[in-house]
Amino acid sequence: MNYDEYLRRVPKVELHCHFEGTVRPQTFADLARKHGVELPTQDADKLYDYDSIYEFLKIFAMVSSTLRDQEDFARAAFESIQDGVSLGNLKYREMFFNPTLHTRRGIPYRTVVDGLVDGVRQAERELGVTCRLIADVYRQDPPEMAREMVEQVLEHRPDEVIGLGMDGAEAPDPPEKFVDAYRLAKQGGLRLTAHACEDAPAQNIATCLDVLGVERIDHGYHVLGDPELVKRTRDEGITYTVCPTATAVCYFDADDLTKHPIRQMADEGLKIMLNSDDPPMFHTDIGTEYVGMVNAAEWGPDRVRTFVMNGIDGSWASDDEKRGLRQGFERELSALDAELER
Ligand code: ADE
Ligand code: ZN
Repeated sequence: MNYDEYLRRVPKVELHCHFEGTVRPQTFADLARKHGVELPTQDADKLYDYDSIYEFLKIFAMVSSTLRDQEDFARAAFESIQDGVSLGNLKYREMFFNPTLHTRRGIPYRTVVDGLVDGVRQAERELGVTCRLIADVYRQDPPEMAREMVEQVLEHRPDEVIGLGMDGAEAPDPPEKFVDAYRLAKQGGLRLTAHACEDAPAQNIATCLDVLGVERIDHGYHVLGDPELVKRTRDEGITYTVCPTATAVCYFDADDLTKHPIRQMADEGLKIMLNSDDPPMFHTDIGTEYVGMVNAAEWGPDRVRTFVMNGIDGSWASDDEKRGLRQGFERELSALDAELER
């Protein structure tokens, strides 16, 4: 077995992946046809090309606009997990979704979440993968809309819905805008995370930790601009859920992952774990993210093992679940290590 195959077969946790960004191009095209949504081209995959977060977010909204019935959400959620399993040996995922991208179009929140839960439960039954859900604040929304979204999440809350996150374009809308939504979510017992320092200075991480009370940081690259914050988040063991390709396309040099700040974050001893973000929308998958980033950074199996285990540690699975995941991962990794050495 060569190293690329090893990396694809390593058991994986994902904590940073957006449901709407995981919709297969074929499913996007099917749903557009089903609901009479005109696409600019018949080849949906051609729409998945951009050179800025703003263009990306436009297509992300277009994909969202084709999800209407409970079955649409269920189908796309199941397929999304199926792709993680077949392309990267996914074992456990916590997946974002953006309620307001749907409710603003008149889709009831219950339709969205019940459909997602249908797909997630089907995946648990048929694929043995547990997937939990994190409702994301969309940063371009007004703060009142985000707060109302959290109220909806707390009102109708299947067990799978465990957290609140925040995405969208970061630079124009800093995290403190959503302090009310985060306070309400915390009171309601949701776990908290946020996209930060994907495209903004390190200050946003401090705000997320100290003002919003988040437990993890999604992305976090610009922490490197603040050595004190690097030290603090290393000492506090904050998990950074990093995404090689998506951010390389939008913010760094897509063709050269050797210069990706993820590499330096790892060298600084930060607790990173790798994720796919919006895999088909960036022409990637979780297996390919490992192959690309690990080879570019010249990480050996020991470091890969550390990053994989960081995913279990940083997850919001129960202690029992974490123990089970660790045991299963140790077993699979040892078997893979033996095959790699042969
Ligand atoms: N929504 C989906 N993916 C995102 C990302 N990487 N950054 C901000 N918002 C997003
Ligand atoms: Zn993201």
